[in-house]
Amino acid sequence: MNTEVVLGAGGEPIACYEEESRDGVRWADDLRVVEGVAPVDAAERIVRELSGWGATTQASLGAHLVERGARIQREFDTFTYGLQGISRPVAPSRLPANLSLRAADTVDPADLRATYAAAYPVGHPDHDMSMFEDLQALMAGTLMGPLLPTSAVLIDTERGVGVAAVLANDCPGSPPEEGPWISEVFRDPATAYRGIGSLLLRHVLWSSAEAGLPALGLAATAGNHAAQVYEDIGFVRTARWVDLLLGDSGR
Ligand SMILES: CC(C)(COP(=O)(O)OP(=O)(O)OC[C@H]1O[C@@H](n2cnc3c(N)ncnc32)[C@H](O)[C@@H]1OP(=O)(O)O)[C@@H](O)C(=O)NCCC(=O)NCCS
Repeated sequence: MNTEVVLGAGGEPIACYEEESRDGVRWADDLRVVEGVAPVDAAERIVRELSGWGATTQASLGAHLVERGARIQREFDTFTYGLQGISRPVAPSRLPANLSLRAADTVDPADLRATYAAAYPVGHPDHDMSMFEDLQALMAGTLMGPLLPTSAVLIDTERGVGVAAVLANDCPGSPPEEGPWISEVFRDPATAYRGIGSLLLRHVLWSSAEAGLPALGLAATAGNHAAQVYEDIGFVRTARWVDLLLGDSGR
């Protein structure tokens, strides 16, 4: 990824971002004002310079961009769980007899397909961004960095299917904003499996601490009750973000 800058009227840098492409739309990821520049002063110029682009930015700058015509596509929060120091995660409790724990890299994504679809039904805030192809790419390590070996799946041995998964990827950068990242947490919504998402997540935190990882980050779309699940486990919210379409991007 290339770091690019937005220049002010006098040619001075006022904002920077990582350029990427999303579904054919040019995208300014992690768009932020440079030190010493007030978001309110940079917003108009950013909207003009990046007209037609999408952008991901913290909510504070996003609010000023929206005032100048940007349209919100998605709001989400990022969280971190520090794995070193005093508060080490607790070891997982015993699993129900019909559930077997497997390393995710030994599981065929097809064995999780039905559960994945059921976990993100129509109406779920992440339905549109939960394609099976993305699950396959996350497990293959081609979407967000290599799959970390602590990624885990619960198999219902009576049914022979995966009923919960927590995937973590070795993303570049440093915690708490970047670095090792939980890219997926989901379980079969059937009542019989209530609570196994948190159970598996606690297990992955514990095994990741044992493996020496510094922290695990994750993101949750605004409106998803999973954010409360994460806070109950001990994740700490680091920021509110927005995905925006700037100017006349036409989508
Ligand atoms: C997030 C998830 C893995 C958590 O699984 P879990 O630990 O088994 O927890 P539950 O699903 O039982 O939910 C935990 C609590 O939230 C409540 N809850 C469940 N669905 C809810 C909803 N749609 N709205 C509000 N509360 C909800 C449950 O009643 C439960 O509360 P309780 O502990 O007081 O009984 C699971 O809910 C899931 O797969 N969700 C769909 C996929 C998803 O959104 N993943 C996260 C992406 S960031």
